[in-house]
Amino acid sequence: MIDIHNHLLFGVDDGPQVVEETIELLKQAKEQGITGIVVTPHHLHPRYNNTFNDVESEIYKLNLNPLIKGFDIQLYPGQEIRITDKVLEDIEKNKIKGINHSKYLLIELPSNSIPHYTKSLLYEIQTKGFIPVIVHPERNKAIAQDINLLYELITNGALSQITASSLTGDLGKNIQKLSIQMIEHHLIHFVASDAHDATNRPFGLGHLFETAKLKKMDKVLRDLLDNNEHMIQNKDIVRKRPIEFKKNKFFGLF
Ligand SMILES: [Fe+2]
Repeated sequence: MIDIHNHLLFGVDDGPQVVEETIELLKQAKEQGITGIVVTPHHLHPRYNNTFNDVESEIYKLNLNPLIKGFDIQLYPGQEIRITDKVLEDIEKNKIKGINHSKYLLIELPSNSIPHYTKSLLYEIQTKGFIPVIVHPERNKAIAQDINLLYELITNGALSQITASSLTGDLGKNIQKLSIQMIEHHLIHFVASDAHDATNRPFGLGHLFETAKLKKMDKVLRDLLDNNEHMIQNKDIVRKRPIEFKKNKFFGLF
């Protein structure tokens, strides 16, 4: 099982601050059967910048640390890129590269709104040969109020990643319901932990298959996890045609 979005590296953003906290996260990942982790520190975030080369050198340093020997978890480089008017410039300057050198970029929207330039920027990113993957759309307030805002971005070529703890209900019933609806409408392509620390924002991937509400989604969840593997191998994923959200429609799954 591969995780494609988390804050495992210490001292680079709002994830762990010391190596011991990184070790706690690695222990948790190991217990859940995670074999590979794409580390994705924040970049172009109001408080944090981590270029792709920075991330690669932090992984190199971490791999030299004797404390992490024995975990047998492969670390891959990535970034969680906040959407700003600097994204294209940073792609040009090689400060931004795809997940594990692939064509996939993780793009984070602000939590309240969708900036007016989002659609055109996601288009420009695609003209540069990258596929934007919108991370945790279920946590964006504008999308939570109108799922079709996500539908529009997906029909224009973006992909998206849901957070495991949103699906398991750890972030509340409303966000769980919304997350399930997004999957039912074929608006989600990957699932990841977005882990920041072992206690409050842990790796949750291993709990997906223990969650009663998700039992009927077993196959879909496995497909999302397969897509994580395809991402790090720079392979294409199967996209199902997105379904527009119609209010009051009953889907019968739950
Ligand atoms: Fe994140």
